[in-house]
Amino acid sequence: MNLKEKIKKIKAEKNAVILAHYYQRPEIQEMADYVGDSLGLSQKAAETDADIIVFAGVHFMAETAKILNPKKIVVLPDLNAGCSLADSCPPYLFKNFIEKHPDHIVITYVNCSAEIKAMTDIVCTSSNALKIVESIPKDRPIIFAPDKNLGKYIMKQTGREMLLWDGSCIVHEAFCIDKLVELHKKYPDAIIIAHPESEEHILKTASYIGSTSGMINYVKKYPQKKFIVATEAGILHKMQQEVPHTVLIPAPAEEDNTCACSECSYMKINTLQKLYDCLYKESPQIDIDPAIREKALIPIQRMLELSK
Ligand code: 13P
Ligand code: SF4
Repeated sequence: MNLKEKIKKIKAEKNAVILAHYYQRPEIQEMADYVGDSLGLSQKAAETDADIIVFAGVHFMAETAKILNPKKIVVLPDLNAGCSLADSCPPYLFKNFIEKHPDHIVITYVNCSAEIKAMTDIVCTSSNALKIVESIPKDRPIIFAPDKNLGKYIMKQTGREMLLWDGSCIVHEAFCIDKLVELHKKYPDAIIIAHPESEEHILKTASYIGSTSGMINYVKKYPQKKFIVATEAGILHKMQQEVPHTVLIPAPAEEDNTCACSECSYMKINTLQKLYDCLYKESPQIDIDPAIREKALIPIQRMLELSK
């Protein structure tokens, strides 16, 4: 049996489900029961009846699945699959920050640790951040963390001031505006689409700004056009499957960037072999302190409720 057949067999035997983010390697996406964005993945995790959840993504995503399913086994192919955004918000600093602004509602982007979620009033993803912010009464000041780029974008959309945490995604901040302008000159008929984790000068060039699933849905609406895609390059796999005849061009990153182009090294640390191994060994598992888990569940449930 080859590795793919072995994964299918063991998955059925153990009643496991494989959830994968769009940024995962193509061969992992092909093995998944569901491929989606952060919101879709949380929704799937909340409703699964599988005994084991294999989270082909990064640590905060698997943690969210565990918070929603404390009795299930949640495994991550590689525990080192982290996130620069989540790392940019250490709990002890965030605690000090929110204590200085006790009148503020705390909204956190799902890309943060369970400890940060436990200090949060409501979680959001890039799919629903606008809706979540708009659900807060206008007279309530808001802390938005950890992504300053998404925060700035939402401030612009809503015309509302928010206190922003200074965090960002290394992958989306690596896009190079000069190279993007050059590329657009080469393909003047191409439409630029961007993820809101990108910097403001990149977002200004985009005709559409949205989450990974939002970007895929947008491209599906205009399959006869060409697109320059400013997000992690893993999305191109699913996107191209949805629009096989459309020209999709990845947005260029800085030349001196040490990571490979616009790829997230955390997402790409998961491999097919590690996917099999974690299913077989039921390890590494996600384990969360029950007190933190209980507190972190509340803002996630609020988000899921508002996203129905
Ligand atoms: P979405 O899945 O919400 O589009 O976010 C992208 C991302 O950076 C996940 O880490
Ligand atoms: Fe984190 Fe950025 Fe990688 Fe997403 S792409 S997991 S936000 S580092």
